Amino acid sequence: MLLLCEFHVILCIFSLPTIVQAQSFLSAISTHPQLSNFTSLLSTDPALASSLFSYSASAPQTVLVPDNNAFLSFSQATGQTFPSISQANLQPVLQYHMLSGLFTQESFGDPDGLTVPTGLRGPTYNNRSAGAALSSLGATTANQDGQVVFIAQNASTSPDLYVQSGRGRRVNLTAIDQVWEGGRFHTVDGFLTLPDTCTKTIRAWRLFSLDAALNRTGLSSILDHTNNVTCLGPSDQAFLDAGSPDIKANVSALTNALMFHTIPQPLYTNFLTDGQTFKTLSNATVRVTRKDGDIYFNDAKLTRSNVITNNGLMHVLDRVGRSPSRMFFWLVEC
Ligand SMILES: *[C@@H]1O[C@H](CO)[C@@H](O)[C@H](O)[C@H]1NC(C)=O
Ligand SMILES: *[C@@H]1O[C@H](CO)[C@@H](O)[C@H](O)[C@H]1NC(C)=O
Ligand SMILES: *[C@@H]1O[C@H](CO)[C@@H](O)[C@H](O)[C@H]1NC(C)=O
Ligand SMILES: *[C@@H]1O[C@H](CO)[C@@H](O)[C@H](O)[C@H]1NC(C)=O
Ligand SMILES: *[C@@H]1O[C@H](CO)[C@@H](O)[C@H](O)[C@H]1NC(C)=O
Ligand SMILES: *[C@@H]1O[C@H](CO)[C@@H](O)[C@H](O)[C@H]1NC(C)=O
Ligand SMILES: *[C@@H]1O[C@H](CO)[C@@H](O)[C@H](O)[C@H]1NC(C)=O
Ligand SMILES: *[C@@H]1O[C@H](CO)[C@@H](O)[C@H](O)[C@H]1NC(C)=O
Repeated sequence: MLLLCEFHVILCIFSLPTIVQAQSFLSAISTHPQLSNFTSLLSTDPALASSLFSYSASAPQTVLVPDNNAFLSFSQATGQTFPSISQANLQPVLQYHMLSGLFTQESFGDPDGLTVPTGLRGPTYNNRSAGAALSSLGATTANQDGQVVFIAQNASTSPDLYVQSGRGRRVNLTAIDQVWEGGRFHTVDGFLTLPDTCTKTIRAWRLFSLDAALNRTGLSSILDHTNNVTCLGPSDQAFLDAGSPDIKANVSALTNALMFHTIPQPLYTNFLTDGQTFKTLSNATVRVTRKDGDIYFNDAKLTRSNVITNNGLMHVLDRVGRSPSRMFFWLVEC
């Protein structure tokens, strides 16, 4: 009798892990019909599947799984099927879809949005490092240095969550809070875009005046080969309103002005507080103001923020920067 009892207890202890243990990533997603394209992609490449989507007790991951719409949009946009892209391209794209840490529907509720590190490493796509603010997030243990995505809510869309990645591209996020052995997963309706250099991002965003100003001063390559950068990108209208300094200012004044629009550390908006000040590359000071849900650098409003670049990010501004003393920064005869 006693023996049987003990045997029973032992059985219980041994069977507990199998009850608690969740499924591999592949078997977890395979039960979701809207993920059948991704499931078949991984099924054809088990080595890739097990190398990327593996269990780690110290570093749980939340995968943003592209759904079948993502595959469809990809082939509509590019004329090729996603599985046909090369292994060299596939790997970083998949790494960018893996958030470092456990993120559930609740985690995404912050009205300021969330900057989340991913598994994407290496200078081509991630020539930046976390810095103090991001490290304090405490998402997981050692994994905060991967390139980030910005996740936020937009009440006027459904689903209301979006993920912003390279070139400021957005996809919709449906937080389904599903479990696999290495963490959680949710679905996204498009593929995330790998971050580009500042210059390519500026061109993709069609900031022609800024692009022209960078060309005239030859600052592009410096901007693109410096790490940890926040690039403030005034719109074309902003340059026009300031009297077209991109054309009229001399090269040395323009160079100084562009340095005034570059901050040597990544400043994601969810870490910005009202009244904060930062030194720019030109050693001038910019002050952050938060008012009525908008964010200003001096008196320029951010019209699109957290556009991820390989060395940091860009915020698009509605006017060129003025100095805090309210003098026109651009010295231009109009
Ligand atoms: C994705 O799934 C659909 C069926 O839902 C199928 O018709 C299509 O061929 C699949 N595409 C790829 C790239 O696997
Ligand atoms: C990364 O930044 C360093 C400067 O810290 C620069 O020398 C290098 O060219 C950059 N690499 C890329 C791929 O942009
Ligand atoms: C900037 O990058 C360097 C090296 O890449 C790193 O040591 C430093 O902590 C970074 N600073 C910030 C604010 O991200
Ligand atoms: C929210 O979505 C709407 C519709 O797509 C868009 O016009 C608006 O700019 C978005 N708001 C923000 C803050 O991104
Ligand atoms: C995201 O959802 C909106 C509707 O709310 C839709 O117009 C848009 O095309 C979706 N984005 C993607 C990348 O599918
Ligand atoms: C800047 O120079 C590049 C070539 O280096 C060119 O492709 C681009 O069109 C130029 N931009 C503008 C706004 O003239
Ligand atoms: C460039 O323009 C600035 C501002 O208008 C002026 O102070 C400076 O003397 C000019 N430099 C040259 C070399 O013309
Ligand atoms: C930057 O400005 C501060 C004053 O705000 C000054 O002490 C410092 O010397 C300046 N640095 C450079 C490199 O000009």
